[in-house]
Amino acid sequence: MMEEVLVALSGLWLMLPALLPNSAAVIFGGGPPIDLGRSWRGRRILGDGKTWCGLIGGCAAGVALGTILMMVALPFDSENLWGFGSYPAALGVIFVLSLGALLGDMGGSFIKRRLNVKRGAKMPVLDQYDFLLGSLILLLIFYPDWFLSNFWEGNRWIALLTILVAVPLLHRGVNIIGYRMGRKEVPW
Ligand code: CTP
Ligand code: MG
Repeated sequence: MMEEVLVALSGLWLMLPALLPNSAAVIFGGGPPIDLGRSWRGRRILGDGKTWCGLIGGCAAGVALGTILMMVALPFDSENLWGFGSYPAALGVIFVLSLGALLGDMGGSFIKRRLNVKRGAKMPVLDQYDFLLGSLILLLIFYPDWFLSNFWEGNRWIALLTILVAVPLLHRGVNIIGYRMGRKEVPW
């Protein structure tokens, strides 16, 4: 049982660099939209909610958090940095986690625009999971062995299950906080 709890906690720990970027994008966001206002088949490609400042600031925030996590783990586990791996490969994993989250979020907006869902309008499931899916897909492309050994093989599927359950709850909690702070127009 102890072992399973540690695997679950390890899943959350390793995903932290993917959890921050989208919240940070709300703070850094603004300025020119990524699609530069362009439309495709009569609808915006991504919409005004996806900006270059949000993308770059969000990615930098995820990498900064990941760097802090590596420094926290370093004195205890210099070989493996508590699952991130050895430096500098660990930094690559962290970059992919951060960028993947933002690309996944952009993919979600792309789908929403195709379905004629307005910027900021709620789309259950997609809103909660698009960024996580982006991170996981980018990991599978660039660091498949890392992903499989941490989130799939042996009892490590528990880590994947944990993030799948925790992410919508965290997403909801963070968005309510952002709404109360006046940073988000809607509490989702
Ligand atoms: N944001 C940004 N750039 C990004 C992602 C987010 O500037 N790449 C900022 C925008 O100000 C956005 C806010 O963070 O409005 C909240 O993000 P999100 O909920 O993902 O965007 P929505 O405005 O809801 O737009 P969409 O309907 O496309 O999801
Ligand atoms: Mg939204």
